[in-house]
Amino acid sequence: MVTPLVAGNWKMHTTLAEAVALARAIRRALARVQGVEVVLCPPFVSLAAVARAVRGSALRVGAQNMHHQEKGAFTGEISPTMLSGLCQYVILGHSERRRHFGETDDLVNRKVLKAVEHGLRPILCVGESLEERQQGRAEGVVSQSLLACLKGIGAPGGLAIAYEPVWAIGTGVPATGEQAQLMAALVRRVLADRYGREAAQIPVLYGGSVTPTNTQEFVVQPDIDGALVGGASLDAESFAQIVRLTAQVRSRAGEG
Ligand code: 13P
Repeated sequence: MVTPLVAGNWKMHTTLAEAVALARAIRRALARVQGVEVVLCPPFVSLAAVARAVRGSALRVGAQNMHHQEKGAFTGEISPTMLSGLCQYVILGHSERRRHFGETDDLVNRKVLKAVEHGLRPILCVGESLEERQQGRAEGVVSQSLLACLKGIGAPGGLAIAYEPVWAIGTGVPATGEQAQLMAALVRRVLADRYGREAAQIPVLYGGSVTPTNTQEFVVQPDIDGALVGGASLDAESFAQIVRLTAQVRSRAGEG
């Protein structure tokens, strides 16, 4: 069974001091929790400080985005070479990057390729809009987007996929466990078609208004291996509780 993964996407929140305090509080709260890979994704400017704050613990650090080239005249951008050594993961293709910054599947694909080349583990986000869901196109949109973003990725080692329906992000209206499971199962089928048995190593996460109250509903699903958490990851106790619940559900599943 794949190790579950819970990642906190802090988005454009926290000053440097707040980020360090949050990382320390999460570290304290999770000192005794095992069996879940936990990733903190602070803003770029706090990556080094958060990496220092969690050094020596099992917590991992991720960036929220990355440019697809190593260097060049790209004012304001951050390259994979700058990230490798500083963090282990990078969120790519988040719907906020797609919506506000015009990122396409093609661009996300170039980023995924570069991340892998530099030893960074992509948390690749895919998900449909409300309109696409209402038109009955959710499955087609997600599977096409997934395949387009994975073009040229021959081996899936290190990859994680987050199914994040756009309509559930930051709205307080999560998908139901059943909706999330159906889409996670689809993601898994697409991955299995593409990678065969190796696909079983890829954690498939759900993201969109995850809180301690609804975590169980998602992580009990057979095809969901964890969560990508936005708002609730900014509160150490809420985030720690989401991780604990994930660990509990998974250890029960392992026993059963
Ligand atoms: P919320 O948990 O705030 O809905 O955000 C989800 C998300 O976008 C994580 O990447």
